[in-house]
Amino acid sequence: MRIKTLLSGHEPVADVEVRGWVRTLRAGKEVSFIELNDGSCFSSLQMVADCSLDNYATIAKLATGACVKAMGTLVPSPAKGQQWELQVSELRVVGHADQNYPLQKKRHSFEYLRSIAHLRPRSNTFGAVFRLRSALSFAVHQFFQQRDFLYVHTPIITASDCEGAGELFRVTTLDPQRPPKTDDVIDWEQDFFGAKTGLTVSGQLQGELFASAFSDIYTFGPTFRAENSNTSRHASEFWMIEPEIAFADLAADCRLAEDFLRYLVTYALEHCSEDLQFFNDRIEKGLLDKLGSLATARFETMTYTEAVNQLQRSGRSFEFPVEWGADLQSEHERYLCEQVVGGPLFVVDYPKQIKAFYMRANEDDKTVAAMDLLVPRVGEIIGGSQREERHDVLLARMLELGMEPESLQWYLDIRRWGSCPHAGFGLGFERLLMYMSGMENIRDVIPFPRTPGHAAF
Ligand code: 4AD
Ligand code: MG
Repeated sequence: MRIKTLLSGHEPVADVEVRGWVRTLRAGKEVSFIELNDGSCFSSLQMVADCSLDNYATIAKLATGACVKAMGTLVPSPAKGQQWELQVSELRVVGHADQNYPLQKKRHSFEYLRSIAHLRPRSNTFGAVFRLRSALSFAVHQFFQQRDFLYVHTPIITASDCEGAGELFRVTTLDPQRPPKTDDVIDWEQDFFGAKTGLTVSGQLQGELFASAFSDIYTFGPTFRAENSNTSRHASEFWMIEPEIAFADLAADCRLAEDFLRYLVTYALEHCSEDLQFFNDRIEKGLLDKLGSLATARFETMTYTEAVNQLQRSGRSFEFPVEWGADLQSEHERYLCEQVVGGPLFVVDYPKQIKAFYMRANEDDKTVAAMDLLVPRVGEIIGGSQREERHDVLLARMLELGMEPESLQWYLDIRRWGSCPHAGFGLGFERLLMYMSGMENIRDVIPFPRTPGHAAF
């Protein structure tokens, strides 16, 4: 039986079998106490083995990390610290461990644990992180499925750079020593797909095509960015959730983002209380209050222009200068949501020159219908916009930016036949997990992080 099921009962249980990994052992001459964890919940099961067992000598020498199988009876624990314990009638070693098992200490630094990413899931913190990650993945699907959104798998290999930032990882089978060239330029037509391709930076463009048929859709998949920024909030491979909704403007987009975030927080509070309690006690003090109040909070909205005014009036000296037309940096984002509004904040209507080509032009011709959702500690967690659904306006914008409209003919076609106002956003799943767990480094909320210089495991 899984330990979670066993510990959530209210009665003693006879003849039960458990399997898991030894977290700690206190061995005595007469009796030994073993903490067993099988990953099903934060708590370990206290097992009590006494010297009448035929292999007691082996049991008393068990090392942390060993894998064991035990039979016994679950009884109320007379000692403090746990409600139940397992009186062991038989214990077999499935896989031995030796004294070199790297997870000996109670507390290791996250940096050290990153270097043993193959073993860190067996630690308290990472057990909690990856259970939360799994539960929230399920909640993402539940939120959209309950609202009749269609789940679409957008391609991972693509020929278009959605965000236009040139951060595609190249996908090629050409010989790196001798690629075919015409006039000294690589001839991508001879490559595997007959074109220059890379790993997707966003499923949005294809998502828009599906929203033009199914009305409301979402994607949830791996996303890749070859940006060389070694920060605690950027990963080269991360997971993004991208809904796209037809017949919607920017205000409807913000409402969906707000409902979505609130739903995920409420879900975690209901289903992951033991793990969240741990984060609250050991990772971010006050986390539970923060999440509890988000579940009922009003999300503030501010235009980019107002945000710039606020920052300029703040009297703070920021590392990066604040001027209209420049992108907001993490320090600005955090100041706005932490100091100015004290909670989640939508910043809307950004200057068009710092945003992607597909965003809908506002009347002022200077800004676009973009939104970023900023949250305390993390900064930007969501980026989205209303899309430019007017064919001619979009085409003109692409030409203005020096893009080749032929390469995105399919994207323009949607604006020729049955175009409709639509909007969407992308939620970075790891940024969400950082916000919900208090973990401060993106490398510590994804099982096997990929960052510049690191792709081990
Ligand atoms: O703001 P971004 O770049 O928006 C898009 O990609 C749009 N196409 C989304 C859409 O409208 N459908 O990325 C969206 C979110 C960011 O707010 C951030 O949370 C996350 O994705 N993100 C990253 N997370 C981890 N590492 C990175 N390198 C990230 N880049 C973006
Ligand atoms: Mg963004």
